[in-house]
Amino acid sequence: MDRARRDGLVRVDLSEANPTRCGLGGDAALVSALGHARGAVYDPSPKGHAEARRAVAAYYAERGLTVDPEQVLLTASTSEAYGWLFKLLCDPGDAVLVPEPSYPLFELLARLEAVQLLPYPLRIEEDWRVDLDALERSVDERTRALLLVHPNNPTGSLVRVDEATQLETIAERRGLSLVVDEVFGDYVWPGRASGRLASFVGPRRALTFVLSGLSKVLALPQLKLGWMVVLGPQAERDEALRRLEVVADTYLSVGTPVQRALPELLAARADVQRRILDRVLGNARVLDEALSAAGGVARRLPADAGWYAVIEVPRTENEDAWVLRLLAEDGLLVHPGWFFDMPRDGFLVISLLPEPEPFAAAARALAERLR
Ligand SMILES: Cc1ncc(COP(=O)(O)O)c(C=O)c1O
Repeated sequence: MDRARRDGLVRVDLSEANPTRCGLGGDAALVSALGHARGAVYDPSPKGHAEARRAVAAYYAERGLTVDPEQVLLTASTSEAYGWLFKLLCDPGDAVLVPEPSYPLFELLARLEAVQLLPYPLRIEEDWRVDLDALERSVDERTRALLLVHPNNPTGSLVRVDEATQLETIAERRGLSLVVDEVFGDYVWPGRASGRLASFVGPRRALTFVLSGLSKVLALPQLKLGWMVVLGPQAERDEALRRLEVVADTYLSVGTPVQRALPELLAARADVQRRILDRVLGNARVLDEALSAAGGVARRLPADAGWYAVIEVPRTENEDAWVLRLLAEDGLLVHPGWFFDMPRDGFLVISLLPEPEPFAAAARALAERLR
């Protein structure tokens, strides 16, 4: 990918999911909130500044979800949160269950903590469903946690309310913690919430960690502020928080200026999120139109949320051949499905964030090429 960009082969980068390179994300005025004098005093607090943790609780309250600020712990990013949770929950050689397809960083995040991944499949029927039987069959005596990306990246699927109950039952019965990545939770598409669980924040039967952060909530990954909310039975929750505080105190990785600016930053999210959702929905519509104008040779898989489109392509060529042809002949950069561990060959994944005009031209070229 880097070489294709360097060699000037890329006309439209449909893999671009960095909002700050798509004319989205917070504007400079938001980032300048970090320059306030309140950030000049260093008064470290391992779990994060109390005011910042209250701002996270208020963010959930505005979504109708109750969180005690004492259950919130700040991190520099969601990726860091995963690392800390693997340290907390696993000894070297222990394992965590991860959805397949999903976010490709798990492999590295786990390997850096000497943790094994046990994939469990999501299956596409009318919508994506968790294969609960396969999941349960994968659990062994070294399995410590069940990871969920909710909404999933790249499928955009949310779990159904009944699936969430069953996942929690499995976690409770098998002594697993739930780790739920909800970074895309604010980007649910209209009409797709029904029957799906909005968030795992709430009373939980199993020890549960819900992860999110500014990377997606405000489309400002460069600010380096994420968080986890610790939920579940009180004794386990308190013990987990006590231990996590030791990890957090060891690194103290979240910068003071961003913590102090957090109430102000989160208060500005509605505008940023509206612009992103408009962009994503507009691009998804244009893509669907282009695919149908090309005779329906390919289709976008249904999604509930998020910033990505998964396209099922003709299997006359394999994914890598499609990716190379689209690059060489049309100057389009797309992800092959295998990058996200799709269940079989025959999928491409694209970002729905690029600017509308180049996106529309690229969508038409992509559809024509697939035809
Ligand atoms: C599902 C998911 N989780 C986490 C992240 C990373 O977020 P952060 O910047 O907070 O590490 C990403 C980034 O794309 C993501 O797609």
